[in-house]
Amino acid sequence: MSDELLEQLRQQLEKQQAALAALQPVPSDLEQLSKVVALLNKKHCHNLPLPPEYLRLHVGAKTSAANFMAQGANSSERVLEIFGEEPAGPILDWGCGSGRTLRWLRYYPAWRENYHGCDVDVEAIEWLRQNGQSNLAVCKDDPPLPYADEMFDGLFAFSVLTHIHPDKHRNWYAELRRVLKPGGRAYLTTQGRHVVETLGSQLPEGAAKEFSERGFAYLKFEGHYKDAALVGEDFNRQMLEGLFALEDYKLTGYQNMDAFLVRRLG
Ligand SMILES: C[S@@+](CC[C@H](N)C(=O)[O-])C[C@H]1O[C@@H](n2cnc3c(N)ncnc32)[C@H](O)[C@@H]1O
Repeated sequence: MSDELLEQLRQQLEKQQAALAALQPVPSDLEQLSKVVALLNKKHCHNLPLPPEYLRLHVGAKTSAANFMAQGANSSERVLEIFGEEPAGPILDWGCGSGRTLRWLRYYPAWRENYHGCDVDVEAIEWLRQNGQSNLAVCKDDPPLPYADEMFDGLFAFSVLTHIHPDKHRNWYAELRRVLKPGGRAYLTTQGRHVVETLGSQLPEGAAKEFSERGFAYLKFEGHYKDAALVGEDFNRQMLEGLFALEDYKLTGYQNMDAFLVRRLG
């Protein structure tokens, strides 16, 4: 190799090294995503921190922060579709847990004013209170709720009746009707036919048979409110009769659950 060629190569290498040194280190996608999530959390969720893992486990099977955030983003979107961004009066989140839905509603001033949440989970309610949320109540496994008659314009409950024995559903519907204003709407989810059909043989023995014969079944599981009530559409319609008009019923209206919108009669 001639001296001239060597010198040319040396100069090229020098240039390339200078160009490399000028490049800023590029943060990984994960780091960038974390920054975006932190910003969204600050702005959209009004600085409500993520609940600790044990509280996230109380409301679901997957405890990852991403799952908690995504589930809440989905449920809050549904709430906004139904009740809008500017509810004019109080709305109840029955079985609010540690605020999975609430955190995304806090962005909207009218929701900050009109949101009310209650749950049997004392620890979740206490955690929300400690983090600055007001209009919360601890409620009981059975009615009554700690609210006056006709207090709410509307209410919603994601996967709450799914953990309450079907024998209690009629009483709960009567109680939800009591706290709603005349004409007030409720959005509710239950687990039923779709879950039975998709889980099939994975269900505990006899559950599918019981469901098909009686229209409901109740499965016992360890953990915070992990028992599962399976109720069919006919069962739900019977429970609602005389109390609510059914405005919309979808078999897989919310994830794998039946989801329905009802309006208080009378
Ligand atoms: C699957 S979690 C759903 C929580 C919340 N709705 C959400 O979507 O994030 C079920 C919730 O219902 C609550 N719960 C169970 N029975 C209840 C009852 N009788 N009254 C109020 N909350 C109840 C549990 O403590 C738990 O927070």
